[in-house]
Amino acid sequence: MNTGAKEEKDRALVRQRYNRASLTYDVMEWPIERMAFRHWRRALLHDLWGRVLEVGVGTGKNLPYYDYNKVQLTGVDLSEGMLRRAKALAARRGFLADLRQMDAEHLDFPNGTFDAVVNTFVLCSVPHPAEVLREIVRVLKPNGRLLMLEHVLSQVRHIARMQQWMDPLASRMMGAHMDRDTVSAIRLAGFSIVRDEKLMLEDVFRRLECRVQPPVFISTTPGGGASESDQSPGVPPFFTESSLSPCYKEPTGLITSISAERT
Ligand SMILES: C[S@@+](CC[C@H](N)C(=O)[O-])C[C@H]1O[C@@H](n2cnc3c(N)ncnc32)[C@H](O)[C@@H]1O
Repeated sequence: MNTGAKEEKDRALVRQRYNRASLTYDVMEWPIERMAFRHWRRALLHDLWGRVLEVGVGTGKNLPYYDYNKVQLTGVDLSEGMLRRAKALAARRGFLADLRQMDAEHLDFPNGTFDAVVNTFVLCSVPHPAEVLREIVRVLKPNGRLLMLEHVLSQVRHIARMQQWMDPLASRMMGAHMDRDTVSAIRLAGFSIVRDEKLMLEDVFRRLECRVQPPVFISTTPGGGASESDQSPGVPPFFTESSLSPCYKEPTGLITSISAERT
C-alpha cells in the first residue's frame, strides 16, 4: 500500500471510530468532565481573543467556555457524527461558531490566519500528530498561541510502562493513544512551551501553552534587517523581519535573532 492510500485508510478508520463514539461520547465522559475537565477547559479558554481555531472540536465541549464578544471561533473535526453534536449544541445555546468538517492534517486556511489554536484531547487521537502540528504552525500568526489539554506519555517509568501496556486496547476501543510523547512532538514542530502544568496522574494530564518559536535571522550587515533570501533554512517558521509581530522585536527574552556578517 502506498503512503497516500495508507494515510487515507488511517483517516477513514479514525472518522469511523468517532462517528460511532459520537453516540455515547458525552455520556461516557460525563463523570470525568464533571470532576475535572470542565474546570480545566474554563481556565484554558477564559482569556482568549481574536481569530481562534479549535482543531478536533468534537461534540463541542469547549464551546460554552469561549467569550464570543472577544473570540471569532472556527471549529473543525474529521467526524461528521461528532460535528453534528457540536452544531446542535451551538444552535441550542446561540454560540457564534463556524463549525466545519475538515482534516486537521490538511487545513483549508491560508498561512498566518489565527491568533490562537485550541486543541483538547486531540493529538492522542489523530492518525499523524506531526502533520497536524505542522499545519497548526502554518495557520498561526507569527506570535500566535497553541493552547492544549492532553494526556501524554509519562516520564515516570512505571506509569509509562502501564500506558504502553494499555495502549493497544485503549486505542482500539476509544480511538485515543495512551503512550504518545506529545510534549516532544510539540517541540519538534517548532513550538516553545511557555506554560506546562501537571493536572492529574503525576505528569500524564497536562495543560500546555505554546508559541511558535521566533525565527532566526542571518542579516548581511551587522544590526541590519533580514530579507527573504537571508532566512536561515530549516528553522521554522520562515518569516521576514517585516512580517513579524512587534512582540518578537521587543526585548522579552523570547527573541532569537542572530546578526552575522557574511564573509
Ligand atoms: C477525544 S476527541 C476530543 C474532542 C474534544 N476536543 C474534547 O475536548 O472533548 C478527539 C476528536 O478529534 C477528532 N479528530 C481525530 N483526528 C482528526 C483529524 N485528522 N482532523 C480533525 N479532527 C480529528 C475526532 O473526530 C474527535 O472528535
